[in-house]
Amino acid sequence: MELDEILACRLDAARKKAEPCTIVIFGASGDLTARKLIPALYHLSLNELWPAPVRIVGFARRPKTSEAWRAELQEALGRFSRRGAPDPAAWERFAASLFYCQGDIAEAAAYEELRRLLDDTDDLRLKQNLLFYLAISPSQFAEAAGRLHEAGLLHKEGEAPGWQRVVVEKPFGHDAESARQLNASLTRFVHERQLFRIDHYLGKETVQNILLFRFSNAIFEPIWSRQCVDHVQIVVSESLGVGARGGYYEESGALRDIVQNHLLQVLALMAMEPPVSLDAEAIRDEKVKLLRSVRIPFPDQVASSAARGQYLAGPDGAPAYRQEPKVRPDSNVETYAALRLFIDNWRWSGVPFYLRSGKRLPLTASEVRVQFRPTPNVLFAAQCGANLDANAITLRLQPNEGITLRINGKVPGASTEIRPVRMQFSYQAEFGAYTPEAYERLLLEAVSGDATLFIRRDEVEASWGIVDPVRQAWSRQPLTADEMYAAGSWGPPAAARLVAARGHAWRNPQPQ
Ligand code: BG6
Repeated sequence: MELDEILACRLDAARKKAEPCTIVIFGASGDLTARKLIPALYHLSLNELWPAPVRIVGFARRPKTSEAWRAELQEALGRFSRRGAPDPAAWERFAASLFYCQGDIAEAAAYEELRRLLDDTDDLRLKQNLLFYLAISPSQFAEAAGRLHEAGLLHKEGEAPGWQRVVVEKPFGHDAESARQLNASLTRFVHERQLFRIDHYLGKETVQNILLFRFSNAIFEPIWSRQCVDHVQIVVSESLGVGARGGYYEESGALRDIVQNHLLQVLALMAMEPPVSLDAEAIRDEKVKLLRSVRIPFPDQVASSAARGQYLAGPDGAPAYRQEPKVRPDSNVETYAALRLFIDNWRWSGVPFYLRSGKRLPLTASEVRVQFRPTPNVLFAAQCGANLDANAITLRLQPNEGITLRINGKVPGASTEIRPVRMQFSYQAEFGAYTPEAYERLLLEAVSGDATLFIRRDEVEASWGIVDPVRQAWSRQPLTADEMYAAGSWGPPAAARLVAARGHAWRNPQPQ
């Protein structure tokens, strides 16, 4: 087909327009600011959808001038931007919008200083439209919001001119109860619709494409259910260990770090019912409904529906988890988690959904595999038995993003040999190498006030409800030798048993 025959449909007509504003980053000296936020903001500033003007204020404890902060960020951009060192003229234009405010989150005086800085403009929009990005510890969220409110910088929508929004990083609480408490403290100062909870997986192109793939292609809907699907596997595997993040990881483990958020979000998008519209609330309503349909294991069912593991030293000399900096030498924290979940609704009743994530696995890759039922045991299946693979659709979320349909085909030749072949859509081949960073999309949406890609209060609480019983059971039992896995392997034996119990096997992501 000629390029000009390809129909493209833009859904941006109802897109909210981003307005000039000031973005205040709490935790401006942190890793996230240098690695993700500033590169994303810089790339957005080169983009036609980004409003002008936008001011960016960094708020952190370390004393430094705005000039010093700019110089640090310029250097960091060279290291972390996907486009490398910034173009000097474009950087100068961007740097002119960066300001630093030194202050302690716990001190009222710091917020007065911040207020003076924010008031120092004639542009009302920059004074009144404020996005507070809390890249700080969750234990400080409520205090920061409260003090911003006292300083007259943060108001419930409708109570002051302009708009104010608060963006918070994960983890949002450490269980359902703490998430509820955190929600209650934050909503004393802002409405739920002003709160933007980040799960950066939702900013990934391939994760956003799940909804488009499912609901803009009529051929998949009739097979997307228990009638045709045998089981589903969702994996986030990482080859790196926890490295310098031992302190954080000791409090989170794989279950809180990845399963409660990224994996359950992907599950919700894969399995939810079609929303009534593309509106943020309509989509989030369906995700919550799905998460609430997930069967919660009773404490005595955890052992048979979940598996955990912790990595040992690798053959490459890399340390075991317990030898990583800031990790307790007898740590009981899991670096690998696998769950078998059932969704108790009409579409999915009886279909196992396997979720797993681990550090120090052979490969870094995230993918979803929808494994279809095998053919009836006649014709080819009667002769080939288990060697005749069933169809599968794999959504490769990263890297080498794409979608693959596995079908069986005849190997050319005089003999009749059947083997799986792949029909493949690759982002790289179709669209070229450009895939924007998740944070670019998320920041643009937050500035525009579109909450579709952010997690609503009831979603967070429902997700914690699914993982809490597992975490509680695991915290009561010390890890056994059977739950340890060699770095560079695909996880502990217990995880293989989890799928084998239903006659399944893990289908590991392949290097591509
Ligand atoms: C983060 C986790 O949320 O996601 C990290 O805290 C993990 O432990 C990371 O490495 C993975 O994200 P990505 O985008 O690299 O797949």
